[in-house]
Formats: sequence, structure tokens, C-alpha cells
Amino acid sequence: MHARVVAAIAAAVLGTAAILLSPTSDARAGEAGEVTVVAHRGASAYAPENTLASIDKAAQLGFTWVENDVQRTKDGKLVVIHDDSLQRTTNVEDVFPGRAPWKVKDFTAAEIARLDAGSWFSPACTGTRVPTLQQYMRRVEHNHEKLLLEIKNPELYPGIEQQTLKLLANEGWLDHAHVGRLVVQSFSADSVRTVHELKPAVVTAFLGMPSMAQLQRYASFVDLINPSYGSLSQGYVAAVHAFDGPHGRPLGVFAWTVNDAATARKVAGLGVDGVITNKPDVVRAALGSD
Ligand code: G3P
Ligand code: CA
Repeated sequence: MHARVVAAIAAAVLGTAAILLSPTSDARAGEAGEVTVVAHRGASAYAPENTLASIDKAAQLGFTWVENDVQRTKDGKLVVIHDDSLQRTTNVEDVFPGRAPWKVKDFTAAEIARLDAGSWFSPACTGTRVPTLQQYMRRVEHNHEKLLLEIKNPELYPGIEQQTLKLLANEGWLDHAHVGRLVVQSFSADSVRTVHELKPAVVTAFLGMPSMAQLQRYASFVDLINPSYGSLSQGYVAAVHAFDGPHGRPLGVFAWTVNDAATARKVAGLGVDGVITNKPDVVRAALGSD
């Protein structure tokens, strides 16, 4: 199983090996040995999660793979935020005190744009905003980054898969040059299957750990199985690798959320292809690329 699974899948999708990244460009992409390191919600240990600052920080640390979470506002705009409520990561309680429980879906994009999404993390980050997906994609492009995009809580947002793909297409992210730079994932298998059916060329991932008996079915619409690291075993990783995904390449495994050196080494030893982490620098150092 080749660890540079996304690039390999991209090559399969395009029917050419030209998209395969060189070892040099892979190193710049944040690879630690054979394991791809993904900055979870950006480099979220060091900057407010899911903000432009967090993906700038990942780039500064030398990582190109970043992960985010996409949801939808009351007036139908896609925004980048993890929780279904604005409460934890913004000052919404101060700005809109009468609007509990402060659900993302109950606020307009203009209202969310007024919120501070940095002061909860650090006073130095005051003024940071919740990015729209369009703003976020433009910064990812500007930073020459690659994106593991999570459709979060899709059951709350009917049609979010099609809407997200349309925005990605409008931003140029579904063209051939971007195939190796994008993975769309969700905890909802239905949501991932919808993405695959709408745009079969897009590389997809399921967040979770299907039983070994279910893997063959998942392999018809996902390229990656991305489980929490806690319940992972070498046997399960090998079982995933034994199936070919929809693009004719072995399924890959990206484990989350690994934030310390010992766990990173342990998880890498299970044979995973990627590690999703709030501290990409710690994982890179642990896996010996520095
Ligand atoms: O990418 C894996 C991870 O993001 C899944 O969990 O809750 O952080 O979105 P969560
Ligand atoms: Ca996520």
C-alpha cells in the first residue's frame, strides 16, 4: 500500500501518472516519511480553529494538507465552523444575547460576519472572523494548500453536498489540476455517497470505522476510511487496504485526532496512510521527517 494515496488516486482518476507528486513536493505537502500529516481545523493548537489564521499557521509550519468543517447559514451561505452552535468559538452570546442556542443555521451570513472567532482562543487573535467557504477556498488556493473538507451535520442542511460541489466548481477546485488537492469527507455515509454520485472524480472519505463486513460496500463510493485512532488496529488497517476504492486504487486510512508523539508513532506503526492532528509539527517530528 503506497502511502501517498490521494495523489495516487488522483492519478487513477485522471488516467495519467503526471499528477503524481514528486518526493520533493510531497515533503512540502507535510508528509512525514510515508504518512501524510493533515492540520486538523488548520493548525488548531496554535491558532483559532477553522479560520484563515489557522490555515496560514499550517502553511507557516510547512504543511499543505488542512482539514475543515463546512455548514450553512440561515440565508443559505456556506461557512467554515465545527460546532452546530456559534457559542464555543465566537462571541455570539455577547453580540446576540437573546438568540440561544445560537445555532449556525439560525443566523445569517451577515450576522455571523460580525462575530469575533478569535478572542475565545487568545486575546491576540481578537478580530479573527468565521470564514465563508468561498473566502476559505481562496486562502487555501493562495497558500498552495490541499484540503480535507468535511461536510458537517449534513442532516441539518438538505442539499449541502450539491451546494458545496457547486462552490468548489465555481472556485476551480473540481478541475484536473485540483484533483490531487481535495478530499471530501463526512461522518454521514449517505452524504459521502451523494458527493460520489454527483461528482465521481472527487476523492472521498468516510469518517468512522465500518465493520470489516461493510468495507466492500463502502469501497464502492469512498477512497479513504478515516477512523478515530483509539479503536484502530493493524488488522483493521490491513483489511481496509485490501479493498480497491471507486478509482481502482487500494483504500487508504487517515486516523484522527493524534496530538502527541507517542500516539503518532503508535498509529503510524499500524500502517495508516495519514494522521490528522491539531499539532502537525509534533507529529512530523515524531515520525522522523525533521
Ligand atoms: O477529520 C477528522 C475529524 O475532523 C473528525 O472529527 O469532530 O473534529 O470534525 P471532528
Ligand atoms: Ca472535522
